[in-house]
Amino acid sequence: MKGIILAGGIATRLFPLTATTSKQLLPVYDRQMIFYPLNVLIKAGIKEILIIVAPEHSGQFINLLGSIFEGVGIHLEFRVQKIPRGLADAFILGETFIGNESVAMALGDNIFEDDLSAKIKKFEKGGLVFAKKVSDPERFGVVEFDEHDNAISIEEKPKKPKSNFAVTGFYVFDNRVVKIAKSLKPSVRGEIEVTDINKRYMKMGELKVVKIKGAWLDAGTYDSLLEASNVVKNREIYKHFDPMIDEAIAEFNQEIKTIAKKRLS
Ligand code: TTP
Repeated sequence: MKGIILAGGIATRLFPLTATTSKQLLPVYDRQMIFYPLNVLIKAGIKEILIIVAPEHSGQFINLLGSIFEGVGIHLEFRVQKIPRGLADAFILGETFIGNESVAMALGDNIFEDDLSAKIKKFEKGGLVFAKKVSDPERFGVVEFDEHDNAISIEEKPKKPKSNFAVTGFYVFDNRVVKIAKSLKPSVRGEIEVTDINKRYMKMGELKVVKIKGAWLDAGTYDSLLEASNVVKNREIYKHFDPMIDEAIAEFNQEIKTIAKKRLS
């Protein structure tokens, strides 16, 4: 299975923080936000990951991640998304990268406390959405499902939600997703929507819902960004990263410390 992280976008809700850097490079407690979705994919054993970035921040991503996983068997690729055409664009930009495989796609600003790896590893066919029980479903994309966890309805910010489960920013699809994404028409807000991909799989009776536990944060606003750091610290989420990521960060820190010392001497 291949992995994609959507780390483009404009992040207008975080201006002026994101006037100078990408949202996904802002800190969440002790590391950049991008390490959280990377962790979900790496923990699931995914070794080839495409990171989709906005043109103005591509250099910063390369500076941080360009050689960070060298020698540990994780292969990162980068792709510039010139215009934020929507979440489903991940599968169009990623067509060659995905090849004939299935794909796990993570939004670059979603943080999960739960370990999703067992469900990702067990995936065989169709689509998987990860859903979190919330007290205010009317603020989210809401998925309703039957006793076998098959999705039966998906509604965006419904006034009368049919369930308490919000669709989070993590999806797994089989290879048909590329063809489906390419056939989508932009929504009223002018984007190609991942929710339309989910609906296609749902109509085919092939969209399963995985209920997640623990904290789920979408760090897209000042408050949720601050909350994300607090939750990561207080619930010690930072202690449960894949050791490969912790080691890579430690090595990166050592390298830049050495360079800094050289500059000062
Ligand atoms: P959003 O939070 O919907 O969009 P945004 O990050 O541009 O923020 P804002 O609404 O404040 O302007 O995006 C969710 C995630 O998907 C985020 O990690 C950015 C990413 N994204 C892309 O990479 N490409 C896109 O075309 C879009 C719409 C989002």
